Amino acid sequence: MALGAKLKIGDHEVELPVVVGTEDEVGVDVSALRSSTGAITLDEGFVNTGSTTSAITYLDGEKGILRYRGYPVEQLAANCSFLEVSYLLIHGELPTAAQLAEYQDLIRQHTMVHESIRKFFDGFMPGAHPMAILSAVVGALASFYPDSLDVNDPFQVHVSAVRLLAKTPTIAAYAHKESIGQPLVYPKNKLEYCANFLHMMFSVPAEEYEVDPDDAEALNLLLIVHADHEQNCSTSTVRMVGSSDANLFASISAGIAALSGPLHGGANEACVNMLERIRKDGSNVSKYVDMAKDKANNFRLMGFGHRVYKNYDPRAKIIKAACDKLLSKGKVNDPIFEIAQKLEEVALTDGYFVERKLYPNVDFYSGVIYRALGIPIEMFTVLFAMGRMPGWIAHWLEMRKSPGKKINRPRQIYTGPTEREFVPLAKRK
Ligand code: ACO
Repeated sequence: MALGAKLKIGDHEVELPVVVGTEDEVGVDVSALRSSTGAITLDEGFVNTGSTTSAITYLDGEKGILRYRGYPVEQLAANCSFLEVSYLLIHGELPTAAQLAEYQDLIRQHTMVHESIRKFFDGFMPGAHPMAILSAVVGALASFYPDSLDVNDPFQVHVSAVRLLAKTPTIAAYAHKESIGQPLVYPKNKLEYCANFLHMMFSVPAEEYEVDPDDAEALNLLLIVHADHEQNCSTSTVRMVGSSDANLFASISAGIAALSGPLHGGANEACVNMLERIRKDGSNVSKYVDMAKDKANNFRLMGFGHRVYKNYDPRAKIIKAACDKLLSKGKVNDPIFEIAQKLEEVALTDGYFVERKLYPNVDFYSGVIYRALGIPIEMFTVLFAMGRMPGWIAHWLEMRKSPGKKINRPRQIYTGPTEREFVPLAKRK
């Protein structure tokens, strides 16, 4: 059945086309609204606004579904490497064995950064947040690679994408090493992607360092569950910046800045801080559940609730299972994991949380694993950025290829003063 929508503004009625997606999501296409009526839509926070059609990620928050290019995230997390999922997001299809081997080799060849970039790290203030460093250095990559900045040349764009995927772990690990005053460690390209990152994070020239395969496996899984989440704040930022024909490095650098906010990528830090607070306060979980329910108290259970998921966040389920696995191997020896499990148990049976459909989200258990891997808390969001990199790249490419591509330029309803007479400085009171 063909759907249509009608809108009446004063005496003027317009018929608006309706767009239906492959999962039956319905959107009213208002692109001709202003030209036919003079009016615009107003939707702060874009709660009701689809900024684009997209064929990359599908999520259904009511049912707790998340799929990349049609594949359930649970199946990808159980079977794939992060680079395999990156290939899927960016190219649209899972790679064959030969394509994957070629892709891995290509990424490997680009893991090093220019020696001048290494020198940047001496210039940041001691204790600088690694997200600020990551955003700055990724943006600065454009100044090192003028050979791959033409956004209209598919080969140059491909090279930029490869450079970003390959160099982000190196830049992230350098940011950490600099912050703790240890020498920066070069990548070791015989290691696969996650193991190579752990090597750069934790090895020191004075000691032998063996990457624990369980740690690399857990990191692989974390990167996969963070790899894309459709039109979130940072992804929309990447698309917005790229719509001006800014190069890929500049667009992704802006996305990293958007991710750094505590309402977006920063929630995993807040969750671990909350679990620590509960531990130091005698591990009285019920007290904190009561505090979260008390409307006179602004405390919230961090890692609970989600704007879109009104069911158990599928990513939280995968991460919880990985925590259990690490626990059974004696790798998670952290009192906050026990507190997290108790908190979940109490909250999931409490009427307040049940009624409001508040379930653990991706941030509830991810901090526990990061801690088990020895990742310091200020690096949590950096790892989120590493995981989100293929999603950002895929969305940037999709935006560029869209036949209706335009510079993103929202409008506004002006509410300031109407025209008034200029007052010279000497006469102002
Ligand atoms: N603890 C206690 N109560 C909560 C919580 C929580 N974590 N989350 C929501 N509620 C309550 C609200 O008080 C509100 O109650 P009311 O209807 O009685 O007023 C109701 O549930 C609905 O909450 P909203 O804030 O309207 O929901 P919204 O969709 O705007 O917010 C958000 C979602 C921001 C994630 C919220 O659930 C929250 O603050 N959670 C804690 C922070 C967090 O974990 N953020 C990470 C999200 S995942 C990510 O960004 C990667």
